[in-house]
Amino acid sequence: DPVPAPDISTCGLATKPDDTTIDCCPPNTTTIIDFTLPENPTLRTRLAVQNVAADPDYLAKYKKAIELMRALPDDDPRSLAQQAMVHCSYCDGGYPMPGYSDLEIQVHYCWLFFPFHRWYLYFFERIMAKLIDDDSFALPFWNWDAPAGMYMPSIFTDTTSSLYDEYRNADHLPPKLLDLNYSGTDDDVDDDTRIKENLTTMYQQMISKATSQRLFFGEPYVAGDDPNPGAGNIENIPHNNIHFWTGDPTQTNGEDMGAFYSAGRDPLFYAHHSNVDRMWSIYKSLGGTDIASTDWLDAEFLFYDEDKNLVRVKVSDSLDEKKLGYTYEDVEIPWLESKS
Ligand code: C2O
Repeated sequence: DPVPAPDISTCGLATKPDDTTIDCCPPNTTTIIDFTLPENPTLRTRLAVQNVAADPDYLAKYKKAIELMRALPDDDPRSLAQQAMVHCSYCDGGYPMPGYSDLEIQVHYCWLFFPFHRWYLYFFERIMAKLIDDDSFALPFWNWDAPAGMYMPSIFTDTTSSLYDEYRNADHLPPKLLDLNYSGTDDDVDDDTRIKENLTTMYQQMISKATSQRLFFGEPYVAGDDPNPGAGNIENIPHNNIHFWTGDPTQTNGEDMGAFYSAGRDPLFYAHHSNVDRMWSIYKSLGGTDIASTDWLDAEFLFYDEDKNLVRVKVSDSLDEKKLGYTYEDVEIPWLESKS
């Protein structure tokens, strides 16, 4: 059977990597709405972060939306604080699996990784759009798979901006080149070599090593299963590495980006995951297919929407991003040619 939506009335403490606990539970409600796909949505285009940096109108809207999310009371499900807690509860053991109270729901290291984060960003983006009253607003994507995007994006490092987060690795500010294989230490590779390595990594993770649905999406995970059966390629590398590369190593748990419970506090999280989500779209444009099993398609999650309604969604409604009303800017994909 598919993993069921959590029962938020049973939400409990989440556990940080250092084994201390934190309450990340959302506000409770008894009313749950079943999601229906929007009819004829206006198509929103998610643009590459390095291309929006030069667009003052877009940037003003983006900063305003995050500023408004930061300003909402911490118990408002649309607030940045609550949005971060969504990730905390689903990823650090906040929800027992209905029917299996000794098991937690875990959306990482398994085939729920792509659809869960697609839904998470979908609602985050709709909340932003509503707060600034612009239905066409879309998140940008951190284009870390192309040389122009292999830096911490500068719009996030302006300390006066709502997009700034103080808990990041101070050694990784631009112009430090991103290492898609980062595992905790900076080595002395020159930039041209690093770019080549990064592109080769993308080719491997997306093409030469992505020879099955399991390798791309991750291992099956159904009701009653222990968590963490195994991550797909992209979740493992570079998604995890970019989290660790971005977080502040002087914080106990590598906060913010380096730990599940705190990653969503950094606005950069959502641009990072926008590019992760784009990899799912690219995988399909290259001929990859979605999983046909109802154990995947009928898995469910709950999210609060832009009107503060609790909504139940299914994996099956997330497969086509255009049906959700968005698409990705068509930028060059340099790693397509990066066979090593
Ligand atoms: Cu839910 Cu990038 O992790």
